[in-house]
Amino acid sequence: MIIKLSNDKEIPVEMHKVRIVQKTQLVPLEERLRALEEAGYNTFMLKTKDIFLDMLTDSGTNAMSDNQLAAMMQSDDAYAGSASFYKLSQAVEEVLGYKYCLPTHQGRGAEHLIAKVLVKPNSLIATNYHFTTTKAHFELAGGKVLEFYTDEALLTRSEFPFKGNLNIEKLERTIKEYGSARLPLVRMEASTNLLGGQPFSMTNLKEVRRICTKHNIPLVVDGSLISENAYLIREREHGYAQKSIAEIVREICSLADIYYMSGRKNTSVRGGLLATNSESYFLALRDWLPVYEGFLTYGGMSTKEVEAMAVGMREMVDPEVAGSAVEQVKYFVKLLGDAKIPVVTPPGALAAHLDAKLFLPHIPQNEYPAGVLAAAVYLVSGVRSMERGTISMDRDAAGREALSDLELTRLAVPRRVYTISHLEFVVDRIKWLYDKRNLVKGLRFISEPKVLRFFFGRLEPLENWETKLAGAFKKEIGAY
Ligand code: F0G
Repeated sequence: MIIKLSNDKEIPVEMHKVRIVQKTQLVPLEERLRALEEAGYNTFMLKTKDIFLDMLTDSGTNAMSDNQLAAMMQSDDAYAGSASFYKLSQAVEEVLGYKYCLPTHQGRGAEHLIAKVLVKPNSLIATNYHFTTTKAHFELAGGKVLEFYTDEALLTRSEFPFKGNLNIEKLERTIKEYGSARLPLVRMEASTNLLGGQPFSMTNLKEVRRICTKHNIPLVVDGSLISENAYLIREREHGYAQKSIAEIVREICSLADIYYMSGRKNTSVRGGLLATNSESYFLALRDWLPVYEGFLTYGGMSTKEVEAMAVGMREMVDPEVAGSAVEQVKYFVKLLGDAKIPVVTPPGALAAHLDAKLFLPHIPQNEYPAGVLAAAVYLVSGVRSMERGTISMDRDAAGREALSDLELTRLAVPRRVYTISHLEFVVDRIKWLYDKRNLVKGLRFISEPKVLRFFFGRLEPLENWETKLAGAFKKEIGAY
């Protein structure tokens, strides 16, 4: 909840108590330098023992509620027909409004099945923006992903409230040019992750629905960050201020033919989900579920997590839960903005995103500014962030580098995990780094996987910038 203090300062006050804690540690600079080198300058390869605050992702790292933990104790461990599944189905029907639900081991399991059932060689998949795993699955099935984002989407300093909107004109033009049969689906991603957690508006989603209906193309909604998108619609879209998050979530879902989500974000569990009201999509997806995920009533999840997902599904539409990350992100972005650090605005869901092209303008995209920034942030703070730029793109079939539209370094805010003093510490260290940005140079790959190279790729710094930066840090700040 946002509370105004007596000095007029507004802070996001946590509406929960911390009942279980986990120790963290800030290892000294020399150890951070060693850990970074060992990790091949790739923050995915760091070990948590070397990390102070883990802002890599909000996926699978949220704090669960007491009610979720209690529900896990009641799980019904059965291969088939588990009571836990029926509780989840009931929660899905109640919260999302879908009759059929299919658990998957996580979001990408759902993407794989959608690709398997709908995408054919030469298919064109229209989307407001890609997500890494989504794109990989659609392309592995022979499709091509087309991103129809709006003009404002790539302007990191714009205040446009709905950068996650799909450009309707581009969609219509493509359908006209190639025919609707080439498009097996249109995908709308809530709180568009790689654009900086930016929402779509309900008006835009309704327009997309209208076109899909007109051309008989299924509309797929990726609702991994649906509750944040609903929260931001309530804040920003005309006519929604009086609606509840639950009502807005239901309205979004009512517009989709197939819904899927990573349960690791909004529902704070380790799992995923597919849902629909169409019997034919349900049957087509269901038949592949045991081949790739697990039997219908657990889909690769543990039944404990299935139970916790049912509870998490109801909790995610509580405004205090839906707003827990959004309000912290807003505060975080404000602190960064006040310190003149280039950060994506307006603040969206899941993370504060540094604009690495503006932060490190002297580093060209083929030397990976967003990856460099993630490595440098770790070195000066012990905080782990994630590269969301050219390293997160794979090379094209001819081996050429595919430069990313945006070079973002994402500092994710897991739900109900970090405090305001944590955020203030990170901003302080990033500010110091910003003042020293000219010491920082590029990275180059020394080992590079062909698919999703950002996970396991190894890199090395150009011109030993890490030693120079560490030297300056030691002199001015010390070991910590
Ligand atoms: N769709 C979106 C919008 C996502 O953000 C993610 C995962 C997925 C699908 C895949 O789901 O991880 O459960 O298989 N995002 C994580 C992140 C990995 O760090 O942003 P998953």
